[in-house]
Amino acid sequence: MTADGGTTGEAILEVRDLVKHYPLTRGILFKKQVGAVRAVDGVSFDLRRGETLGIVGESGCGKSTVAKLLVHLERPTSGRIRYKGEDITKLSGRALKAVRRNIQMVFQDPYTSLNPRMTVGDIIGEPFEIHPEAAPKGSRRQKVRELLDVVGLNPEHINRYPHQFSGGQRQRIGIARGLALRPEVIVADEPVSALDVSVQAQVVNLMERLQDTFDLSYVFIAHDLSVVRHISDRVGVMYLGRFAELGTDTQIYDHPTHPYTQALLSAVPVPDPAARERRERILLKGDIPSPANPPSGCRFRTRCWKARAKCAEVVPPLETPTWLRDPPGPAAHPSACHYAEERGILPTEQGPHRADG
Ligand SMILES: Nc1ncnc2c1ncn2[C@@H]1O[C@H](COP(=O)(O)OP(=O)(O)OP(=O)(O)O)[C@@H](O)[C@H]1O
Ligand code: SF4
Ligand SMILES: [Mg+2]
Repeated sequence: MTADGGTTGEAILEVRDLVKHYPLTRGILFKKQVGAVRAVDGVSFDLRRGETLGIVGESGCGKSTVAKLLVHLERPTSGRIRYKGEDITKLSGRALKAVRRNIQMVFQDPYTSLNPRMTVGDIIGEPFEIHPEAAPKGSRRQKVRELLDVVGLNPEHINRYPHQFSGGQRQRIGIARGLALRPEVIVADEPVSALDVSVQAQVVNLMERLQDTFDLSYVFIAHDLSVVRHISDRVGVMYLGRFAELGTDTQIYDHPTHPYTQALLSAVPVPDPAARERRERILLKGDIPSPANPPSGCRFRTRCWKARAKCAEVVPPLETPTWLRDPPGPAAHPSACHYAEERGILPTEQGPHRADG
């Protein structure tokens, strides 16, 4: 087990201290910077080959910004991204284009991310226009038909338009487009959030199947912890531009140590009514503070029921707390809390287990 709760294995992406600040300006003619939105403010993680890293957190915590930084739709303010050991943060021109081919994005909203005036054939084949070396012109229609088949759509529907498909089918089109260049990494930004629950499972299952077939590594973003559990090997919980906790699915769901994770878990839907009765609910006070003016010290402190004086003064690092390392159980994983302690939230067979009595 590595420091960030992951298994050992080749890191295909290494993200270190990633920061993205958007300038806040005032004035129309003479723009003056009056501050910055700290959308991402020091995020570090590894993505290992073949694994799925889930990233969850409430709206505005910076998930989409992380996604855009990973696929170079945005340039970071500072920090580093390595792809297979090579620093790709500052690449440009042809070198960047070559790397971008291998790291593709699947977008959230299948209703707005597909151009309504293009046929699905043109949508899925569009990446070949940008990377003609990936498929000679004469073979592209055939490649698109194969992609439609691979994502469970009828290849005969290649000339149809997006409005002729259901939400789930449109997301399959988006996934086919993401696959066209045979990338190694797919960054999926809330790929199922806009879909009905029954359809969500089908799309998640498809993504799992494609992962095995094409040896893909996923960053899978969602605002809901219940959505990512099934597909994720590890999960990072984000709050106000930083990771609060990072660990394997078992560590995060069954042995959470950060108060924010515990609060999020307490809101996860539990289907069994008896189990639901036993589950604790933690209601957070207040709203998420503005990322333009985050609280000092621990960013979660304005909503944390455990906050003490130190929390306002010292930024808690994302590390495995020393007091949870011995004996090394499942609570020993990185948690950015000065007072991290295990507290089982989701009901188990025996009822919720609590380390703090
Ligand atoms: N281009 C931009 N200019 C200024 N601020 C931005 C820009 N893009 C994002 N932000 C701000 O950065 C913060 C993080 O946004 P981001 O879209 O990454 O959050 P998110 O976690 O994806 O939220 P959601 O769950 O709603 O999709 C938000 O406060 C957002 O308003
Ligand atoms: S560091 Fe303090 S405020 Fe932050 S989560 Fe831990 S106890 Fe709460
Ligand atoms: Mg988003």
